[in-house]
Amino acid sequence: MTAETDPLVGQDSFQVRIVRRQRRHYDRSRCFRFLLISLFGMSLLAIPATLVPRYVHQKFLAVTKWHSLEDVTNAFQETLFSENHAGEFLRRYTNESHLAGDGPELVQFTFDKFEEYGLKASVNDYEVYLNTPLDHSLKMFDTITGQTLHKPMLEEDILAEDPTSTHLDAIPVFHGYSASGNVTAGFVYANFGSKADLAKLVELGVETKGKIAIVRNGGGYRGLKVKFAEDLGFVGMLMYPDPAQDHGITEENGYLAYPNGPARNPSSVERGSLKSSNLAPGDPTTPGYPSKPGCKRREPKGIPTIPTLPISYREVKPILESLNGHGLKIPGFGGAIPDVEYFTGPNPNLQLNLYNLQNYTIKPIHNVIGKLDGWLQDEVIVIGNHRDSWIKGGAGDPNSGSAVLLETIRAIAGIKSKYPNWKPLRSLVFISWDGEEYGLLGSSEFGEEFSHEISGKVVAYFNTDVGVSGSQLGLAASPMLNELLLESAKLVDYPMLPNTTLYEHLINTTNAEIEVLGSGSDFTVFLEHLGIPSLDIGFDSGKNDAVYHYHSNYDSYHWMHTFVDPNFELHRALAAYLGHLVLGMSENEVIRFNVLEYARAIASYYESTIKDVPLEWTNKNSEYKRGHHTHRLHKLIGIMSGHIHAMVGLSEGYQYHLAELREQYQTSTAFQKFKLLIKIKLANENLKHLEKQFLGPGLKDRPWFRHVVFASGRYDGYSGQNLPGLRESLEDDDIVRFLGELEILNHSIVKFNKLLKLR
Ligand SMILES: *[C@@H]1O[C@H](CO)[C@@H](O)[C@H](O)[C@H]1NC(C)=O
Ligand SMILES: *[C@@H]1O[C@H](CO)[C@@H](O)[C@H](O)[C@H]1NC(C)=O
Ligand SMILES: *[C@@H]1O[C@H](CO)[C@@H](O)[C@H](O)[C@H]1NC(C)=O
Ligand SMILES: *[C@@H]1O[C@H](CO)[C@@H](O)[C@H](O)[C@H]1NC(C)=O
Ligand SMILES: *[C@@H]1O[C@H](CO)[C@@H](O)[C@H](O)[C@H]1NC(C)=O
Ligand SMILES: *[C@@H]1O[C@H](CO)[C@@H](O)[C@H](O)[C@H]1NC(C)=O
Repeated sequence: MTAETDPLVGQDSFQVRIVRRQRRHYDRSRCFRFLLISLFGMSLLAIPATLVPRYVHQKFLAVTKWHSLEDVTNAFQETLFSENHAGEFLRRYTNESHLAGDGPELVQFTFDKFEEYGLKASVNDYEVYLNTPLDHSLKMFDTITGQTLHKPMLEEDILAEDPTSTHLDAIPVFHGYSASGNVTAGFVYANFGSKADLAKLVELGVETKGKIAIVRNGGGYRGLKVKFAEDLGFVGMLMYPDPAQDHGITEENGYLAYPNGPARNPSSVERGSLKSSNLAPGDPTTPGYPSKPGCKRREPKGIPTIPTLPISYREVKPILESLNGHGLKIPGFGGAIPDVEYFTGPNPNLQLNLYNLQNYTIKPIHNVIGKLDGWLQDEVIVIGNHRDSWIKGGAGDPNSGSAVLLETIRAIAGIKSKYPNWKPLRSLVFISWDGEEYGLLGSSEFGEEFSHEISGKVVAYFNTDVGVSGSQLGLAASPMLNELLLESAKLVDYPMLPNTTLYEHLINTTNAEIEVLGSGSDFTVFLEHLGIPSLDIGFDSGKNDAVYHYHSNYDSYHWMHTFVDPNFELHRALAAYLGHLVLGMSENEVIRFNVLEYARAIASYYESTIKDVPLEWTNKNSEYKRGHHTHRLHKLIGIMSGHIHAMVGLSEGYQYHLAELREQYQTSTAFQKFKLLIKIKLANENLKHLEKQFLGPGLKDRPWFRHVVFASGRYDGYSGQNLPGLRESLEDDDIVRFLGELEILNHSIVKFNKLLKLR
């Protein structure tokens, strides 16, 4: 294994970078002169470089045969569908525990597979601050008699059918970044523990100070629940998965529980991180810079100060039952555990003792990187999946994605077997991230270390985290990539139904809606910190699927093989889809972004945001008028409407220009093509930097999040929010900040429009 200073490019990176920097200063005629000089240089040295390397190589030097996108995708599909190794890869990845930094054999395995399939592999390490579990206990006791009434085991059952659950190297139940502590206190049921749920408790006078909160999983990111609870004086927290979240596939409804059926195993537990996703992902002691050995470290921010434990619904049941008849029964707080009435409590006669001991250390983590150099070294596509898992298994999260990644790479290697001189037009970089589960550690540190290279070269980032946990395809993306996503979905069969494409499946189930990216996986640093168009794909748990045992020991090979994807056909379909996306993005001369779709999305976000501006802000007689804010607001909204309108118009023109370039390129003669390629290169440079125009100074209180259009919700943590700066100013009733955010958006749109005028 080798370490490299710039994992995105080959040895000639320095040269290419210089060329790229210089190019900005060239006008078109000089550009052309530069090209001719380069051509001369190339014919002498036969080095593919500069503006149009593949074309020159193929047409003028006639070194390689031309392979169309169709040839290439056919070769990809032939290799992919002639065999299926996804199951074998999945078995390998789920055979040893691989918590962040652990599983050295899996680092080696991934490295070896990358090399076997023709990638240049390397390992990129960081040293990150994190915790591993040492000890814990929980008991409920009677405060008068002191008698212990319930002592949960805090372990998931060992199942004879599922070898993953029996192995000795199982990881104890715990939370990432949970605080050590030993607290004894009364307890209160707080529904999901969302900001709204906790506000409800306070509003209705339920005691929170000095209590232990019991919350169910779901309804937002668990790390934020702890933060909100701390703010209200709670001293500890238990989190459990309620069968109410299992879309009706419950024992109560007659389904057998795992391993005998698709319902939740009652002993299952959801582990997971508690790091506040709000501040910045990555190592909490190195905000904004990479965690290299010996680097300066700050006091960790955004991690809990109260002890917490995950628990199963079977083991939390007696605790919740003991609250029946105590406190309030709040509408919307009810779950689905039989005999539990979901009262808030507290029960004055009972207390919990919650003990949690965590080992906080600085631990090395290992991203494995595999490169396939393309003709263009300054246009790179990064494809990532994380490898680390909360449990020994992790068949769904994340290693279904890891198996899919390897299958995709295997099939790309098949193109090279068939056409030995082929290489992709754009360079491909595949990354197996480490430390995702604790807080996107591997990808965020990488993004921070190589921000300059990524900003200069990366065209798009493709992510698959949980590749398969059910049969419903889920898509989320920057709207720049929506068209590529849907067009590629038409090329892949949906294995669960005969004669159905992924596209038809999407239309039928979700009306082919593509979600906005929030946070919760490794695309975050690329999109929200660096402004790289990104997408995330995977088969999620649909309404008739077996319950997904998220972050539980039962997210195992046996579960996947028995209840989700017995023949690994969903894995294969996802690999086929990923392959079409990668080749569609890498092999087309004109980068396949849809600028118009992007502009329209922003316009619609903007319109719906402006509709939510309160009347008091715009009413000329209101108190806001005194600060002249109302006047400024009217003026800015007027200016913005003009810019937004112009943006959509310019984007329409630009999209037409791109279509024209594509079309002309198909039909023109060799010499015309050559000239056209200069125009195409200019367009591609523009496209590569378009989304970055929406990077601003960062959101209030979380400046690491720089994207003006997309961020994760600050009270939810996972789901995507659009125009977060404007939205949050509205939520906070802060007209001054709203005006500032409008100016930031104005600035971005003006820059965006300027690029669209460059043809
Ligand atoms: C899984 O691990 C066991 C014990 O380390 C080993 O004997 C077995 O060969 C491994 N199986 C696979 C598929 O790697
Ligand atoms: C935790 O606190 C309880 C009550 O104060 C005490 O009995 C128990 O020994 C403590 N546990 C540990 C491991 O320190
Ligand atoms: C805590 O972790 C460090 C680093 O992995 C290890 O050396 C140490 O032994 C652990 N401490 C305990 C008490 O297990
Ligand atoms: C699938 O489509 C093919 C060709 O259109 C047709 O011959 C075949 O009967 C179809 N199969 C099913 C199961 O619908
Ligand atoms: C569409 O949905 C219906 C009802 O769920 C199902 O019966 C049908 O097979 C689906 N068709 C496709 C193409 O997904
Ligand atoms: C909008 O942004 C442009 C570019 O930064 C700037 O020149 C212009 O003054 C801004 N307009 C307003 C109203 O802020």
